[in-house]
Amino acid sequence: MEPRVEPGRPTEIRKKVDGRITRIRDPLTGKNTFVEGTTEKKISDVWRLPLINSMSSERLGYGTQKPEALLERIVKASSNPGDIVADFFCGSGTTLAVAERLSRRWIGADLGRFAIHTTRKRLMEVENCKHFEILNLGKYERQIWQGSTFGKNTQPEPLLIFDYLKFILDLYGALPLAGMTHLHGKKGRAMVHIGAVDAPVTIDEVNNCLQECLATRQTELHVLGWEWEMGLNNLMIEQAKSQGVRLIPLSIPREVMEQQAVDKGDVQFHQLAYLEAEPEVDGLRARVKLVDFVIANTELIPDEVRTKIKKWSDFVDYWAVDWDFQSDTFVNQWTSYRTRQDRSLALKTDWHTYATPGVYRVLIKAIDIFGIDTSQTVEVTVNAEGKAKKGKA
Ligand SMILES: C[S@@+](CC[C@H](N)C(=O)[O-])C[C@H]1O[C@@H](n2cnc3c(N)ncnc32)[C@H](O)[C@@H]1O
Repeated sequence: MEPRVEPGRPTEIRKKVDGRITRIRDPLTGKNTFVEGTTEKKISDVWRLPLINSMSSERLGYGTQKPEALLERIVKASSNPGDIVADFFCGSGTTLAVAERLSRRWIGADLGRFAIHTTRKRLMEVENCKHFEILNLGKYERQIWQGSTFGKNTQPEPLLIFDYLKFILDLYGALPLAGMTHLHGKKGRAMVHIGAVDAPVTIDEVNNCLQECLATRQTELHVLGWEWEMGLNNLMIEQAKSQGVRLIPLSIPREVMEQQAVDKGDVQFHQLAYLEAEPEVDGLRARVKLVDFVIANTELIPDEVRTKIKKWSDFVDYWAVDWDFQSDTFVNQWTSYRTRQDRSLALKTDWHTYATPGVYRVLIKAIDIFGIDTSQTVEVTVNAEGKAKKGKA
């Protein structure tokens, strides 16, 4: 049913008596009786919904954005609260935002980075939005590339991996290294480790490489990865430095999978973005200040964007904090983000009060203006009493 533009007129009640249609009369007043006019009518097969007004706050600047009223009708008609609603072409996230507001669970997918970025910000603006996670399933594409490039069905797994490692080492200008467990190559005086196609580089993995560097008295380690365990960057760099090893994490770019780029020698390995945060503790309370952020590939910034950037924080579109990171899902417990109306960004969180004293891992995630995440962990120790303490991430 949908609301009528104009309420229906009251209808007279009639019935058949002795084969004749007769009006029903009210015995007290003697007047004809009527059924009240309806305010709803059956939904027609042509749906007339207004476009999103050009001044509406709903409009997000996503070319193919649909009105929420449309998705609301579809979601309400085809699901109940608690059901899962999926939109595998979610664009600006209209379906997901509506599903969240209507207490449905949801899954969204899109191949566009801007779509995911727009959707994520949109969901953050939904009041009391439940925690959600963004997963990058690009590894399937990489697995297919690895299989088709290095012959998944024609050679055994170890040879497939060997060819993959050799290919990346060549592109990086490094030579293969024999007789090591975790170190795959050497570039000048640096040892090189290459992350798997289908998994993020983990802290344990980097630790194993570090141990092998120390055992063989090497002082520089380059780790190349497609994806990274959250919070790995600064933590590992500092840890390696304290053991006398210069660690440089570099990302393996998508161009590796494009034959043309490989042939033209266009493949560049960039350092990961750098995020620095400073925790402050006061008794059971803690807060975090964003101190520095350097994006990875500054040379890729278009000129029109570069001229608008005045300070490091201009690169941050939003940032979020999980006060008790458990090394699995990031739970968004505090966020500051720029909106189209208000471009300001808080660089310090509010105070967070812990229920019990202890040592907590705080994960800080910054999303840059290109929609790329960088995360960092800091440790805070809180107790029932105490003075404000500062420490560096
Ligand atoms: C018409 S738009 C969806 C608009 C959306 N309903 C909204 O309100 O914003 C279609 C989306 O599908 C995405 N898309 C196209 N092909 C895709 C694919 N193979 N896998 C995932 N997403 C895809 C596009 O990036 C685009 O964002």
